[in-house]
Amino acid sequence: MLTGKKILLGITGGIAAYKSAYLVRLLKKAGAEVRVLMSDAAKQFVQPLTFATLSQNPVYTDFFNPENGEWHSHVKLALWADLYIVAPATANSIAKMAHGIADNLLLTTCLSARCPIMIAPAMDLDMYSNPATQDNLATLRSRGYLVAEAGEGLLASGLSGKGRMAEPEEIMDEVVRFFAGNGSMRGRRILITAGPTREKIDPVRFISNYSTGKMGYAIAEELASRGAEVLLVSGPVQVTAHNKRITLIPVTTAEEMYTQCVEQFSGCDGAVMSAAVADFTPADTANSKIKKTGDEMLLRLVPTKDIAAALGKMKTGKQFLAGFALETDNEMQNAQKKLESKNFDFIVLNSLKDKGAGFGYDTNKVTIVSRSKGVVSYDLKAKTLVAKDIADQIEEEFTQKSAV
Ligand code: CTP
Repeated sequence: MLTGKKILLGITGGIAAYKSAYLVRLLKKAGAEVRVLMSDAAKQFVQPLTFATLSQNPVYTDFFNPENGEWHSHVKLALWADLYIVAPATANSIAKMAHGIADNLLLTTCLSARCPIMIAPAMDLDMYSNPATQDNLATLRSRGYLVAEAGEGLLASGLSGKGRMAEPEEIMDEVVRFFAGNGSMRGRRILITAGPTREKIDPVRFISNYSTGKMGYAIAEELASRGAEVLLVSGPVQVTAHNKRITLIPVTTAEEMYTQCVEQFSGCDGAVMSAAVADFTPADTANSKIKKTGDEMLLRLVPTKDIAAALGKMKTGKQFLAGFALETDNEMQNAQKKLESKNFDFIVLNSLKDKGAGFGYDTNKVTIVSRSKGVVSYDLKAKTLVAKDIADQIEEEFTQKSAV
């Protein structure tokens, strides 16, 4: 799978360093050439000999060999690699990478690298959730770093939470995807709707919903990382888009989202409708704040335009259209109905009955119902990983459409 690929593996000082020994084995088994760089702290956890033996190459830890003065060129190492993986990446090293600090060979090589860099964060839960670490990760993502998401579970501190280094098999999956899928969507232009809409009642009030936009933004990032140009039409959310190939088109109301989507769709290869669009909007918006009178207040609502259905009518044979169905009852039946009524090629069903799925969570549990593959159910997983499953289905749609 990775025959001929040159992989540089940087190991920083965390207990998860022991897992990286197995990662080296997996990489070697897949045919990759592996060279290992270790920070001083990493050597406290695992001996360089372990990695030298597994990688069948000397391990680099210093700028030069203290015995014979041989210079270890970080520039040469960085130029050699097709991919540089830093696993485990501690909070300290992530912070240094984000700020361009180069106080060891491993970090200097990061600054010199022309190849993509993938990091696998590993730390205690509070260090991981600290805004400083999250900001540093966001900075690195915005610079195109790939992140093998940390998992949740028991940590070395004895506490339990998010911060565990991704398992070697998971990192391996990312690496395989990187080499296989890198650029697979280059030249594609995809429209995505995300987040909630806000329907104005008066200057200080609106009707909205609990959508956070996390799923739509994760899809946008995934498609962009595969080389697609993404137009992200988004309602008001707290999340941000990082990849430079994502163009954000901020909107507030369902009507604004409709106008943007109808305008942009014909120039796209397809669209994913992940926004939670309000189905109703106030018939009249008051220009001044509505004052209470002591009487009951009746609000007359009128339906909004169905954006997905409109794009379903515009869709050509070369374009795909995908949607979401968030259901509480008769899930499959409703999803099938929406697939037909909105002319979707596939629909992603999530049920509010599933724990950890739906609004606000970082995880989701979905079933994809497609015309090409029927019904496929997936396990509960991080939204970033669900985005990969959805992106794979989009690739399938492109394959089907180009075969026609
Ligand atoms: N959708 C849309 N425009 C709307 C309403 C929904 O584009 N005005 C899209 C959503 O983004 C989603 C799909 O249609 O991809 C299904 O949305 P959902 O809210 O589940 O369905 P509705 O059509 O609103 O039907 P209902 O509320 O009756 O379940």
